[in-house]
This record gives sequence, C-alpha cells and structure tokens, in this order.
Amino acid sequence: MIDGPAGTTLRVATIPGDGVGPEVVAAARRVVDAAGARFGFVVDWTEFLVGGVAIDAFGVAIRDEDVAACGAADAILLGAVGGPKWSDPAATVRPEQALFALRGGLGLFANLRPVAVHPALAGASPLRPELLAGVDMLIVRELTGGVYFGDRSEASGGPGERSALDTLPYAEHEIARIVRLAFELARTRRSMVTQVDKANVLATSRLWRQVTDEIATEYPDVRLNHQLVDSCAMLLVRRPADFDVIVTENLFGDILSDEAAVIAGSLGVLPSASLGERRTEHGIFGLYEPIHGSAPDIAGRDIANPIGTILSAAMLLRTSLGREDAAAAIEAAVSRALDEGWRTADLADPTDPSDGLVVIGTTAFATAIIERLAIHENARETAGAPS
Ligand code: IPM
Ligand code: MG
Repeated sequence: MIDGPAGTTLRVATIPGDGVGPEVVAAARRVVDAAGARFGFVVDWTEFLVGGVAIDAFGVAIRDEDVAACGAADAILLGAVGGPKWSDPAATVRPEQALFALRGGLGLFANLRPVAVHPALAGASPLRPELLAGVDMLIVRELTGGVYFGDRSEASGGPGERSALDTLPYAEHEIARIVRLAFELARTRRSMVTQVDKANVLATSRLWRQVTDEIATEYPDVRLNHQLVDSCAMLLVRRPADFDVIVTENLFGDILSDEAAVIAGSLGVLPSASLGERRTEHGIFGLYEPIHGSAPDIAGRDIANPIGTILSAAMLLRTSLGREDAAAAIEAAVSRALDEGWRTADLADPTDPSDGLVVIGTTAFATAIIERLAIHENARETAGAPS
C-alpha cells in the first residue's frame, strides 16, 4: 500500500518532543504529505514519546526500545526536547539525555548545519546588509565525541571544596571520518574548508590539526585553513561570507552554530541533519531537526516558526529518502512564501502595517507552503508544456 521510488516503504519516525516541537513537526508532516501527493509517494509515519514527555510517562528521556525503533526507520524527524519543568540541574534524568542516546546509540556522528541568508530576511539579521551578501556556509559539527561523551564526575566534596570533572577525548578515527566528510561536502560547494580548534591550548585540537592536514593531501583541489575558535567566533560576524565549510569538534560546533544562526535572521528558519554511516534503501539514515529549542514560552499558541522543521524535512527527503524532487519543491515554496511577505511572529512586527509583511501562525504558514508547492508544480508543467 505504501510505495517509495522503488515500490518500497518510506518509513519516518517522528519525535514531536516538548514545547513547540509537536506544532512544528505537525506542520512539517503536512508539508511532506502534500509533497508526496504531488510527486507520487506516501510516507509511513510513526511517532515516539521522547524528552520531557517521556520523563513524565516512563521516567526516562527515551526508552531503549524507542532508540532501536527509531533507528530501524529510514529517517527521524525531531521537533525539540526540554523545558523548565525538567531543567533542574540537580535532576539525574533530563530531556537532553534523549538526544545523546539517539546520537550516540545510532552513530550519528556528523551534524550538518547550513546557514544561508534568504534575501527577504536580510532585514531581520542583526548584521549590516552589506555583510550578508553571499553568506552561504555549512557547519559540520562532530556529534558523538569530545566533552559531550567523555568521562565526567559530578560535583563532590564539602561546601567550599567541591570539584567536578569533564574530559575531552578524541580518537583519530573520530576526527578522520568527519573531516573527510567536510572535504567531500566542500567539493560540492565552494571548495573551502575551515577547521576550527583551540590548538594553542588543547592536545585534542593539535590532533585535529594533524589529522586534518593528512587528509587534506587527498583533496588538493580544496582550500584548507585552520582557525582558532575564539578568532572564528569573531570572524563569523565580521566576515560571514568568507566561510564555506566549517568543520569542528562537538562543543565548538554547538557554540559556533548558534552564533552563525543569528546571522540568518532567526534561529527559527534553520534546519539540520545528523548523519552516520548506515545506508538505507533510499539514501543515508539520518535525524533531522530544526536548530531552535522547545521555546516553552510560546508553546501551544500556534505562533512558532515552522520553517526550520520544514526545511529539515526537505533535507530528510533529499538525503534519507532519495526525493530530490520533493525537497527542491519544498525549498522553493518556502522561499516563495517569504518573498511574498508571509511571516511568523519572530520575523516581523505585527503592529507595523507599513512593512508589507503579513504575520500568520504555524498552521497557516504550513498551508501557505503547501499552496505554493502546487504553484511550483504548475510552473514546471507550464514550462514543460509544448508551445
Ligand atoms: C544542540 C543543542 C544540544 C547540544 C543541547 C540541547 C544538549 O544545543 O543540538 O545544539 O548541545 O548538542
Ligand atoms: Mg546547541
């Protein structure tokens, strides 16, 4: 009953999660279903309780069997996890543990965060417009190593004498596989790689540099430069258009990707993909999620920006399901809706009638995308029609 490109099933596990997660995932699902109707495929969706909602239901952020079930799908679409209800630093069970269980448990070592500035959103960026021309970077963040997964000891000792410990291990193979991926991706773009570290302090950073230099000899056509993370943080806002592919370790990638995201005008518009080595019938298995968090302050009000999740779903269609046609159509429809002035509340001032923008909610924005998928299809048909 459910046919993919080769008559096979397209299985996507969804993790709506907490806060605005369920709203943005529902929006993206509608868009994917509509794209499927246009392009002739049907996605078989399953849904999992993960994050704070899972802590409430099961006492853990994600159950082992749910990690396994998600891993058996072709891809995962995730909204967001976490919220004030579960954020007590003393708690031993926290929603974010679900992310680490999925990333580590499913071997999703490569986190891709593309940052481009849509021309219609240039006004929403805190940077001057002249700095934004040509911004098109891809942050390739190592996701299953480093300080996130190193041994740690929680604080112990008496008052005034407490100490805690985190460790930052990296093995050569963990560095090599992500750096190689960064070079491969650079070849499909502007052929530049910036490897970011703190080699003037950290031993692991010096290993990153050595391994990166060795791999670079296999890619003489790609320009490599090394940058210290503090300097990179500064250059990201001074000359963002200079960057193509940035490859870096887990913690630096976490920090730099939030910084870079602000350049695009809103955290709400950016997608991400987390990939490993497992291939499915249709592509590479991956987990896709917007880079924004659960935004509990606006949850349940149908005002969250669904673009980051919708564009994540487009990446999912392209990379995990082999549906470049639907992915490109969704991206074009998002772009068209923005060009026409449709916005969610994070991207416009609803009290300013003079800006020509129309503020609509999460559901209405998804509907606007769906309507523009049809326009895309009609435009293709018109263009292809015999004269
Ligand atoms: C991210 C998030 C997570 C991370 C948090 C929620 C643990 O900030 O995906 O970037 O640090 O990896
Ligand atoms: Mg982060």
